[in-house]
Amino acid sequence: MKIFVDTAKLDEIKEACSWGIVDGVTTNPSLIKRAVDEVKGRGKEIDMETYIQEICKTAGKDRPVSLEVISLTMKEMVEEAELLYSKFNPAAQNVVIKIPINTCTDESEGTDYDGLKTIEKLSQKSIPINVTLIMTPEQALLAAKAGASYASPFAGRIDDYIRRGLGVEFAKGDYFDFALIKKMGEQRLDEHLKNLGDEAAGALYLGKETKESISFGKDNGIESGVDLVKSIMKIYRNYDIKTEVIAASIRNARQIRQMAEAGAHIATIPFSVIRGMLQHTKTMEGIKNFSADVVPEYRELFQS
Ligand code: E4P
Repeated sequence: MKIFVDTAKLDEIKEACSWGIVDGVTTNPSLIKRAVDEVKGRGKEIDMETYIQEICKTAGKDRPVSLEVISLTMKEMVEEAELLYSKFNPAAQNVVIKIPINTCTDESEGTDYDGLKTIEKLSQKSIPINVTLIMTPEQALLAAKAGASYASPFAGRIDDYIRRGLGVEFAKGDYFDFALIKKMGEQRLDEHLKNLGDEAAGALYLGKETKESISFGKDNGIESGVDLVKSIMKIYRNYDIKTEVIAASIRNARQIRQMAEAGAHIATIPFSVIRGMLQHTKTMEGIKNFSADVVPEYRELFQS
């Protein structure tokens, strides 16, 4: 699995690239805002164009850098994508444009097609696209069909959505055992079925309690962010789809393990979570013991 660093902070990108494990960079407007706030917090101004050039150069030619458009309609998104691509791709030939799968902001409408149309237009122009804000396998299928090079399911946000729906208290980085919730849903359904008489299948299926048990802890059948990625991987494999899946919106190290088990092509990971992947109390204890056990005879070997 490739690892991208999910940040727009230049110092984090530089540091993470020096570790030899980073294969790309993803940004979004919120991450750019955090980077700008940090620079301003140090009392400095930011020249955005130079700053992004620097990100692209730091990443270098073999590490794609995703930059996101800001408009919500096809014409504007295509123009912005072309502008971002022509401005920043020449530096290291590594720019990928992020386009939202659906730019609709009106709950009552729910859908517009500007995202898809933009993806189609840009793919015709051979501009690589990372389709962002993917929350369902269906969206991922459409993104691929429209010509996306990458699809980014937001695993953490789906986890948040399901956990909130369950009324669970959680801190952003907490690992959450969705297998336990699945078990609870199954038990709930079993109990409900046991208590039923000889109801007709139709009445049973449409019953409020049945519906609630079936959908317990799920988002339209999706059990977690990892489950979302698993489902997309299965669909892409079924049809030999070449779009690469970037498991995004990652919250903790254990989630990354599960993404790798699910076969995600890429995980884009916040800087602090990459650090968490290295940590174990027994590793720390081991290094202390090894250091304490070095005998002078062995140390002398290194003192020429
Ligand atoms: C990366 O492509 C996404 O924009 C990012 O992972 C979103 O993360 P968040 O849900 O933690 O904001």
